[in-house]
Amino acid sequence: MGVRASTRAGALVSPGRRPLIAGNWKMYRGGAAGCELADAVRRAVAPGARAEVVVAPPFTALAAVAETVRGATIGVAGQSLHPGTEGAFTGEVSGPMLVECGATWVIVGHSERRQLFGETDANVQAKVAAAAACELVPIACVGETLAEREAGRTLEVVSRQLAAILAADRAGVSLVVAYEPVWAIGTGRVAGPDQAEEVHAALRVQLERHDPALAAATRILYGGSVKPENAAGLLACPNVDGALVGGASLDAAAFAAIVAAAEPG
Ligand code: PGA
Repeated sequence: MGVRASTRAGALVSPGRRPLIAGNWKMYRGGAAGCELADAVRRAVAPGARAEVVVAPPFTALAAVAETVRGATIGVAGQSLHPGTEGAFTGEVSGPMLVECGATWVIVGHSERRQLFGETDANVQAKVAAAAACELVPIACVGETLAEREAGRTLEVVSRQLAAILAADRAGVSLVVAYEPVWAIGTGRVAGPDQAEEVHAALRVQLERHDPALAAATRILYGGSVKPENAAGLLACPNVDGALVGGASLDAAAFAAIVAAAEPG
């Protein structure tokens, strides 16, 4: 399961990056249930929390959730977007439509999109550019499958995925990268802090080679079975700047506990 990394992560750590905890609700909690969860998150998260907090409800609940958290310093994200602005694309939602709903963030290239809906690196690149074009901050996901990890290809895979993301024209809009090992998503099998840090450090080096200022500013989130019990250990890693949380984000108390785990220990 080991990956090889020749990184110099320690030199790149910037204590200035504010942690970001994002909840990916996936295809759960549309409509009224989404508003209830958003309201519970609003009440559960301490107003002065160190971490920035974002929730990504299904499209049908976006506008209502944005209304529910208005003024509460909780950001709202779409879970995907079409790269175009409008057109005959049945079932799709564009960046400007997300903005209209009150979103300021969007998840791009989640492994479920890649694996179940055939999204390629090229699609992800186009979506990152489309997000930035309407000033949505992309939370762009990378991650290897179990087979890729066992074949020793983790760094090769995430580096290829990140290269595609970095090739997108973001027109100065900031970027968040989420490392989500596919084998850890929804499985209860979390990457250990050392495993996560090894990949995050390699991603940081790749960002650094691309643009040192971007490397210093870009938050690299870990995602995959993040829970209140394991969050502090992951967030203590120098290159782990936050978490993309799936299952545990559907429970306001658990999500708030993960947000609290980002407080300085
Ligand atoms: P999980 O999902 O926390 O349920 O593993 C993470 C994600 O898919 O973003």
